[in-house]
Amino acid sequence: MFGNLQPQAPDKILALMGEFRADTRQGKIDLGVGVYKDPTGVTPVMRAVKEAERRIWEAETTKAYTALGGEPAYLSAMSRLVLGETLDADRTAALSTVGGTGAIRQALELARIGNPGLTLHVSDPTWPNHVSMARFLGIPVAEYRYFDEASRGVDFEGMKADIGRARAGDLVLLHGCCHNPTGANLTADQWAEVSAILARTGAVPFVDLAYQGFGDGLDEDAAGTRLIVANAPEALVAASCSKNFGIYRERTGVLLAKVEGRAARDLAAGTMAFLNRQTYSFPPDHGARIVQTILDDAALAADWRAELEEVRLGMLSLRRQLAGEMRSLTGTNRFDFIEHHRGMFSRLGATPAQVQRIRDEHAIYMVGDSRLNIAGLNEGSVPVLARALVEAGV
Ligand code: LMR
Repeated sequence: MFGNLQPQAPDKILALMGEFRADTRQGKIDLGVGVYKDPTGVTPVMRAVKEAERRIWEAETTKAYTALGGEPAYLSAMSRLVLGETLDADRTAALSTVGGTGAIRQALELARIGNPGLTLHVSDPTWPNHVSMARFLGIPVAEYRYFDEASRGVDFEGMKADIGRARAGDLVLLHGCCHNPTGANLTADQWAEVSAILARTGAVPFVDLAYQGFGDGLDEDAAGTRLIVANAPEALVAASCSKNFGIYRERTGVLLAKVEGRAARDLAAGTMAFLNRQTYSFPPDHGARIVQTILDDAALAADWRAELEEVRLGMLSLRRQLAGEMRSLTGTNRFDFIEHHRGMFSRLGATPAQVQRIRDEHAIYMVGDSRLNIAGLNEGSVPVLARALVEAGV
């Protein structure tokens, strides 16, 4: 049986993590995997998370199983964080999942049960694991145009034309904010246009919201998701707590499914819990309990929001600094897009050879498509990167 196993192509982001670790050069800079780092290079445990863990440790008297679909209090807190005032609880089923990736996986499984003939439409480019998971499940993938290489902004005309070809019952995957890998995002008007196109075609929006709070603010980053879910008769949202709560290894996420009414909601919730049972049974609880403890306590939630805001503003300031360095080194504003992008990532538009050269000569690690994790920088390393980019002819 095991003689049939074939080597799997490595995930390029995770492979890069290993290569960086193995590099023994002093002063190496990791701009690869999407993990926030503070100016000292540490991924901190947030203050509110530590305090929530202390409270949980004190209050918890049992480690017995929770509910198959997740703790209702967590699901309700996350539904409100994501959908805000637009949450229609009568029409929204929620599932606690193993991280945002688990939410994407369960969403694809759910959609495939609902419509075995569906195609998943993804942006070109998108997070590589979107495509990999869909293909693994035998779901056909179609790409829609998204990134304009010349302006490093959104090719909105191309996007509209391509998603307009999605059929009723297809899934159209949209990045709720902080597009990964490009950093280029839709405006509010563009979200409204996308929503209108999906309404016309009958395709179902599927929002991946992995970076809420890292772009323009918690509510601002969810605005597109809220609009598109409110307007659509059916929608899916996969949200991650890895980045905004900094609890990566706790694997905490949520899947929201908006459906046509109460009976459909209960059917969807039952099917989603069944999917958990078939995959790993009960979802992990610790991360979910941290999140719920924070969100349901006004003082803890305020402290979490304040720290998240510091993180967000720190990344924005690095973006400004890098764009400014590039302006003075090149004498052009060709790199101003770095300042306009939002979230952890920007796609710089360097060739794979240039990315490799920067890695070889300067020990600066970016993903091969020239995706840069802005949070891997600090005030001191920004000029080092800027010089490396110019030297490599980017
Ligand atoms: C990334 O894109 O770097 C993150 O989402 C981490 C991952 O699992 O790929």
